[in-house]
Amino acid sequence: AGLLPFEHEPYFPYADPAVAQAQRDAFRLVRERYVGRTFPLLLSGQEAQGEGTFEVRNPADTAEVVWHFQKATPAQLEQAVQNAKTAFESWRFSDPLQRASIFKRAAGLLRARRMELNAVMTLENGKNWIEADGEVAESVDHFEVFARETLRWAQGKPVSPMPDEHVTTVYEPLGVVAVISPWNYPSAIPLGMALGALAAGNTVVWKPASETPLSSYLLVELLFQAGLPRDVIQFVTGTDDVLGDPLVDHRDVRMIAFTGSKEIGCRISERAAKVQPGQRWLKRVIAEMGGKDPTIVLADADLDDAAAGIVAAAFGYSGQKCSACSRVIAEDSVYGALLEKVVARTRQLKVGLPEDNADLGPVIHGGSAKRIMEYVQGGKGRARLCCGGERASMEGREGGYVQPTIFADVEPHDPLFQEEIFGPVLAFTRAKDWQHAIDLANDSEYGLTAAFYSRDPAKIAEARKRIHVGNLYINRKCTGALSGTHAFGGYGMSGTNAKVGGPDYLFWFLQTKTVAQKY
Ligand code: SER
Repeated sequence: AGLLPFEHEPYFPYADPAVAQAQRDAFRLVRERYVGRTFPLLLSGQEAQGEGTFEVRNPADTAEVVWHFQKATPAQLEQAVQNAKTAFESWRFSDPLQRASIFKRAAGLLRARRMELNAVMTLENGKNWIEADGEVAESVDHFEVFARETLRWAQGKPVSPMPDEHVTTVYEPLGVVAVISPWNYPSAIPLGMALGALAAGNTVVWKPASETPLSSYLLVELLFQAGLPRDVIQFVTGTDDVLGDPLVDHRDVRMIAFTGSKEIGCRISERAAKVQPGQRWLKRVIAEMGGKDPTIVLADADLDDAAAGIVAAAFGYSGQKCSACSRVIAEDSVYGALLEKVVARTRQLKVGLPEDNADLGPVIHGGSAKRIMEYVQGGKGRARLCCGGERASMEGREGGYVQPTIFADVEPHDPLFQEEIFGPVLAFTRAKDWQHAIDLANDSEYGLTAAFYSRDPAKIAEARKRIHVGNLYINRKCTGALSGTHAFGGYGMSGTNAKVGGPDYLFWFLQTKTVAQKY
């Protein structure tokens, strides 16, 4: 007996006018219900005010303030950590079946509110309907997957028996886990890390990105509604000077689960290595950082298929995914034809309002658009601009709208080839032959995702061995990992490779106890 295998949550068929209307209605509901409100900290479920608040703005029009959140004080961070530490003493011994049951109930609650959560996300981070829906569906999957993983890890592992001893290997939780998450996946990413911690029996200090706190807040409320004891998650928002280094440095934090930029990931890893006075463990850090993800296209590939995959992976959510395709490496003989197909498809894409489900919306804010445009301006002097290359304007709206941009003939040492831009900018590079294409793909400090298009079994077999990434996709796009199926996490400077949604993820949140008892 146990939980049945689950099926991935299907996406909403927005082509159906009734479904599209329901999503529009959800925007209306979210605007009525949440816009203009101020949300509290949740310290053991108690609502608390901080020292002042900050504004959350709609990236589609940054003149629009959608809601406000609290700036936690240092004393409130201290209280959050102490609450989590105290709660650990009971949650660590909680029944795994009850933990799994909470996640199952939460899956049901979220399933019923998907369109609402989609709309909240769109208003916070500018995802269009399809991207927001993909992520909220992934969050439902996470609940289902972690329910199953809770029960599986609770069983321990078999060991070779002894004639006169009873020996077991069991897994125990670690303590307080700080969950620090980015704005680009404000639902699925913090939830995946938090569920890893909770499933294993740890308690959580949950710090969402300041751009996107409501997507997280609603999930925390939903978990409480599903029966999670309220002291098991401490939800804190605020400024990095209060919640960044001080949370990472705190001596009572046992583990940090982070997803975000390479710079911050490296900083956390370095700071967490320092043993603080009174600290009784070496902190564990898992970090998922950036990517410079290639799509490799060989001469024998289906070019239309490859072009469709490239455009979806490069420009979905304006390229603001660590998994986004930002390099195309094509064999010489098909380079020109592929480039033409990708450019033609890209020209069909419309930049517009995410609330209207436009193909590309704004990037997260003006500062981000400026940084992206610096790469684009620099690229114009060094590579061949094939489309885009400018900001896009949106009548009467302030926002970081950037046209989807493609550069051809980018050299491997170029920043466009080496640096993560986190925007709608794609670099094409020519490979002499298929082995050279694999070498170019591997010429990166990152190693998160890659796509490889070919129909030749020998070349595919070689690619499977030699491409240095955590997620390799053959004859399909390099974004859209599904929880429970495509364990997600990279090699090299893409992070610690903890692989969320995979069969080994919970191990990162556990320690292993061997108990040998003489009969
Ligand atoms: N998991 C996402 C993807 O696979 C990125 O974070 O696209």
